[in-house]
Formats: sequence, structure tokens, C-alpha cells
Amino acid sequence: MFDTKIKWVKFANDDAHLVELFMGRTCSPIKVNGKAVLLVNNEGEYHMVKNKCPHQGITLEKASCEDGKIICPWHHYGFDLKNGRGAGLYLDIYPIEKREDGYYAGFEYFSLF
Ligand code: FES
Repeated sequence: MFDTKIKWVKFANDDAHLVELFMGRTCSPIKVNGKAVLLVNNEGEYHMVKNKCPHQGITLEKASCEDGKIICPWHHYGFDLKNGRGAGLYLDIYPIEKREDGYYAGFEYFSLF
């Protein structure tokens, strides 16, 4: 009866706009689809995660990346950038797609149909 769907939301017009959003940082806080998210550049691979650590809820703006994980600056728990798992917790992640007209992030929602 319920179906999970993905709503794709454009957040950058092109590569130059994406670079501008980072402003030289590894983690860049932005708002997309009304959510506070974090754009992450892990060695040239882009990811988007919720900007709130699932451990105690602090922002991840000052996080670092190591071995494919985002490392929370507070207690140093690491969360896998591909599936959000880490330390028995789960960090929300959002898929990113590069299309002809820009970069899109996917947000899951439930639908009756
Ligand atoms: S608040 Fe992030 S690991 Fe504790």
C-alpha cells in the first residue's frame, strides 16, 4: 500500500556552482529541500548527509573524512559515506546525481500509490 519514492531536488547548476558551494572546505552546510544538509567532498567524490550527528545531534560542519567515512569532530565516531552506518548508529545520507542541467539530491518519501 505504501511505496517509497525519491524526490530529486536540484542544488547546483554546474561544476563551477558546486565548487562555489564548498568555498574550499571539505564539508559545506547548505539547505536543500528545506533540510539542513552537509555537502561532503571526500577526495573528489561528492556526498550529501544530514548535518546532524546521530550520536548527540551536533552539526558536522567541522567534520573530516577518513577511509570513506565522515568523522564527527566531537567524539570522533565515523559514519560510512555510502550507507550512513557507524558506531551502531545511522547518519541519513542522500544520493547525488549529476545531470545535464546540474546536480540533484534525492530525498525519500512515502506515497500511497
Ligand atoms: S556527537 Fe558526534 S560522535 Fe558524539
